[in-house]
Formats: sequence, C-alpha cells, structure tokens
Amino acid sequence: MNQRQTLKINNKGHLEIAGADTVDLAAEFGTPLYVMDKSYIKNMCNVFVKTLAAEYGEGLISYASKAFCCKEIYRTIDSCGLGADVVSGGELYTALCSNFPVEKLTFHGNNKSYDELLYAIKNNVGYIVIDSEGEAEDIEEICAEINKKQNVLIRVNPGVEAHTHHYIQTSKVDSKFGFSISDGSAESAILLTASKPHLNLVGLHCHIGSQIFEKKSFCIAVDKMTDFYKHLLDKFGISFSVLNLGGGFGIYYAGDDAKISSDGYADYIKEICGELKRCVAEKGIQKPYLILEPGRSIVGEAGITLYTVGRVKEIRNIKNYLAVNGGMFDNPRFALYQAKYSVAAAGRMNDKSEKLYTIAGKCCESGDLIAEDCPLPEMRKGDLLAVFSTGAYNYSMASNYNRNLIPPVIMVENGKAKYAVKPQSYVDLIRNDV
Ligand SMILES: Cc1ncc(COP(=O)(O)O)c(C=O)c1O
Repeated sequence: MNQRQTLKINNKGHLEIAGADTVDLAAEFGTPLYVMDKSYIKNMCNVFVKTLAAEYGEGLISYASKAFCCKEIYRTIDSCGLGADVVSGGELYTALCSNFPVEKLTFHGNNKSYDELLYAIKNNVGYIVIDSEGEAEDIEEICAEINKKQNVLIRVNPGVEAHTHHYIQTSKVDSKFGFSISDGSAESAILLTASKPHLNLVGLHCHIGSQIFEKKSFCIAVDKMTDFYKHLLDKFGISFSVLNLGGGFGIYYAGDDAKISSDGYADYIKEICGELKRCVAEKGIQKPYLILEPGRSIVGEAGITLYTVGRVKEIRNIKNYLAVNGGMFDNPRFALYQAKYSVAAAGRMNDKSEKLYTIAGKCCESGDLIAEDCPLPEMRKGDLLAVFSTGAYNYSMASNYNRNLIPPVIMVENGKAKYAVKPQSYVDLIRNDV
C-alpha cells in the first residue's frame, strides 16, 4: 500500500480512503466494489495541468479515457481543464453524453471504422490520429462529402520502446500501431496526408509504452520526434504546430515499483518540457503545442477494489487460496499479463501478517487470480479484502464473464461516496438476449 493523506489506516484499524471507512463503504454499497478517490484524481489533474502551463505554456493534458471511462470521470477531468483521448465510438459517445468540450477530444485507434470516423467528424472532435493510409483516405472521403476540414495528427513510431525501468532504442517496425520513422513509412503517410485537401495535418503523435518510470525514455522520444520535425522541415518545408507524446507514466502497484508523489509526477512533466524547449531552440523548429496523454497515473492509484472473502482453501505446505467474490471479470490484468497487486485486510489493518495467500477469483478458469503470495493476517470467511491501485484498466477492462455482474463504481471525496456507475442487475445481463 502506498499510504497518503487520503489512503490510510484510521483509528478503528480500518482502511480509509478519501475520508471514508472502507468497512462502512462495503456495508453500504456491498462488494465487490470499485472505490475511486476523487480528491486524488483531481489533485493529479491539477498537478499535470499546472506544471505543463508553468514549464511550457501552450499545451493540453489529454486524459487517456481507456484507463477508466464513464460519464463522471469526463465531468471530473473537464472541471480541471483537461482534454481527453478516446479510442472507440463508445468512449466518444460517453464523452459527448457528459457534455465534454468536443474540441478537446482526440480520437485514436488502429482500426477505426468508417462509421466511427463519420461520427467523430460530424461531432467536430478536435483531432483524429491517423493510424493507416486507408484511414487517411476514409477521413478525406467523409470530409469531402460534408465539406469540412479535419485536424489530424499521424501516429508514428519514433524507435523508442520503454517498459518500466528500461527503455530500448529500436528500429522495430512490428507494432500494430502507427508508422515507423526508420523504414520511411511515416514520411510516406505524412506526404499522402498533406496532399489531401480536407485534412489539416497539424502534427505527429507517439506513445512509447506504459508503466514507465525512467524519465529519460520520454526525453529520448522528444529528441527523436523533434529530429523528425526538423527533417521534414528541411526536406519538404513541412512545419507542425502540434506534438502529442502520448502517456505512460508508471504508478505503484507492488514490490519494487516506485512510490511517486505528486511532486514526482510534476518532475516528469518538467523534464519533458525542458527537453522539448531545448530541442526546439537547438533545432530551429516551430515550438509546438504540446499534448500529453496520461491515463494510469491519474486514476490508477486513486482506485481500490473491495471484495469479501468467501472460501479459504489451504493446501498444506503448498498454497493458501483466498477466494473472493470478484475475479478476472472485474480485474483481468493478472490473467492477461501477470500484473502484480498489493492487498490488505481492510477491516483488520493493524493485525500482523502471518500467512501468504494467493487471491483467487470465482470464475471457471485456473488462471483467474488477482495476486499471488500476499502476506495477510489469518483470513476468515466474510473478511473484507482491499486490492490497491485498481483505478486504471480494471473497470474499463471488466466483462460479464460467467455472467458475473460488473461491480459498481463509487467516487469518494471528503468522506462522501456517490455512485459513478450503478450496480448491474441480472436483468441487464439478458437485456439484449433474443
Ligand atoms: C495512445 C495512447 N495514449 C495514452 C495512453 C495512456 O497510457 P497510460 O495509461 O500508461 O498513461 C495509451 C495507453 O495504452 C495509449 O495507447
């Protein structure tokens, strides 16, 4: 657990989040339950927005909605002055239904359908990030039809791949996303797009990875992207007014992950802005409007999931399983890529940890685990279990596998909890069945 003012143990020995006792939240809303600390989200938004303005000036923090998408998050980030990126007609619809300022939306995706593009263009999204030449053709056709000019960026692979504490510089071209700079495909896509009368090519986008702790990775990306801007200026006289560097700042899940304070996240922005200002001055290119797309770092540590322990299965000298009333249907990240989580007995935070438990879900899959070998006090049926850092890519990746109900989401601020997403019912499960 990465303790903070709004995530701590209260005087009853219970876990408290955003001023609310998790035992009370479980009693009021039931479990499994996604709990989001709204004050944490707002603080992260403010840190990113203010640091970008102070260190760079013209730019936009564009929240990556894929991390956690519902109407309330759009309202929350809008109140803090952020933009947002969407990757599907469904995310776009949710943003529009929240009255999100459409000019601050960026539409991503490697396979946007014609209908999704039409929907985005007709609704005047700020930017579309082109991911294939066919997409450039589709957007041109749609815009010609309705006589409109659309701002577009092109997604490029600058040849930096970053993962947690490592980065590699690569000319790898096997990503399903975007155009590689190294094999010339980015240049061809730029020339094609620039030739289209209804496409207003304002800049380039890159995203070098996720859960990145090494700030240098982002600086290398800045360097490579501005080298490319300079190259395009020198060779073709093409100049861009926007640069979008994607997201990817790491968060604390468990073990050796860094515990980053809000000042620490401000440092990421400072380094990126410093490097960009240096590159712009040195290379003599136009200073671009800078867009950054953090997702996980805004909502990840804001979220916890509360479960109730059902069965405890102890296989002597081998393993202790703690089966909870959730699982891969509310958090598929362990099953997908063995993601690590830390957990706690939310109602007995001061009890000594004396056993290792593997947290199992209730789905019919052996791989349906949440976390392995977690130190906990002796656990009993009915105990409340909290899993930390579940605010990003949990609710948004949830499913109705085994026809389990996706848990509701509550947002908590100053001890007051409200539904952001109401509970599903069995009726919802069969709503579209014929
Ligand atoms: C294009 C793009 N932008 C932003 C993000 C957000 O990344 P993160 O949640 O790690 O900040 C992603 C994540 O996959 C992405 O693909």
